Amino acid sequence: MAKKILIIGSNGQLGYDLVNQANLAGHFVIPTDYPLVDLLDKSSVEACVDEAAPDVIVNCAAFTAVDDCETMREEAFALNADACGVLASAAKKHSALLVHFSTDYVFDGLAEAPYTEDSRPNPQSAYGKSKRRGEEAIAEIYDNFMIFRIAWLYGTHGNNFVKTIRWMATSASRAKEKKPLKIVNDQFGTPTWTVSVCRQVLAMLGRPERGIFHCTSEGFCSWYDFARELVSAYGISADLEPCTTKEFPRPAPRPAYGVLENARLKSIDMNIMPDWRDAFKEFLEYRKD
Ligand SMILES: NC(=O)c1ccc[n+]([C@@H]2O[C@H](COP(=O)([O-])OP(=O)(O)OC[C@H]3O[C@@H](n4cnc5c(N)ncnc54)[C@H](OP(=O)(O)O)[C@@H]3O)[C@@H](O)[C@H]2O)c1
Repeated sequence: MAKKILIIGSNGQLGYDLVNQANLAGHFVIPTDYPLVDLLDKSSVEACVDEAAPDVIVNCAAFTAVDDCETMREEAFALNADACGVLASAAKKHSALLVHFSTDYVFDGLAEAPYTEDSRPNPQSAYGKSKRRGEEAIAEIYDNFMIFRIAWLYGTHGNNFVKTIRWMATSASRAKEKKPLKIVNDQFGTPTWTVSVCRQVLAMLGRPERGIFHCTSEGFCSWYDFARELVSAYGISADLEPCTTKEFPRPAPRPAYGVLENARLKSIDMNIMPDWRDAFKEFLEYRKD
């Protein structure tokens, strides 16, 4: 059944595709983003939700610069945690379903088997901690919510690994340097196309289940494996070299093993997330560049 869906963060990587996919699915979509709505301003959020009076609120907005979160903790917690509570209250006022997105960074990455929704969160980075707190803030206020934990996201809109590697592998200065491109080969996760997530979320809108759902593509790989797949698909002759996380230090720790099992989606026979390689093939046919 068609729903009135307010999508906040509609200019972001995921939000942009969700607006398109929800429109394609026949929903009545109200897209909005900063500065039309400012999630850090309670009255702005309330006014936006009051005006839209939606059946569903989808929050695609977040502080997603993982490394910056380490030095901008207050800002990260304000957007990724406190604002979630504000949104939950606004959703409650309108009895709207609240859909929100979280991340594999809520886990410590020390597991040796995929994390399920029953696995214990233990975030290591400020980003992961702020996102975990956002999950809790929603659950403390309202029970009519779905939180989809996603990971290793890429799409046509916004910045992501696919675009970065493609750019680095083809850059003229690298060609001149003739140095191999080093890619981390000891972090494992699942590349997940934005459109796969959108389709899964839209498929869940009519369902009665609530709470947290893991929502990544099937299978897993290292960043190096993904980079090899993508340079080959784009026909780029790049010299890639596997390296360790230690050789490529970053301000925020990354989970070494961020593989999620879509256990709840599978338990209700609703998992439509494709294998990551199949999704990547479809993305290549779908993209316009
Ligand atoms: N990207 C990933 O690999 C990944 C992985 C796991 C989970 N996730 C989660 O998935 C969700 C979507 O991520 P994404 O990559 O699509 O994010 P994104 O591209 O960074 O988009 C975030 C959006 O939030 C907006 N925004 C920032 N501050 C705001 C404010 N105060 N009020 C309203 N909107 C504001 C941004 O607007 P401006 O551009 O104007 O600032 C932008 O449109 C997030 O919850 C993220 O944590 C992402």
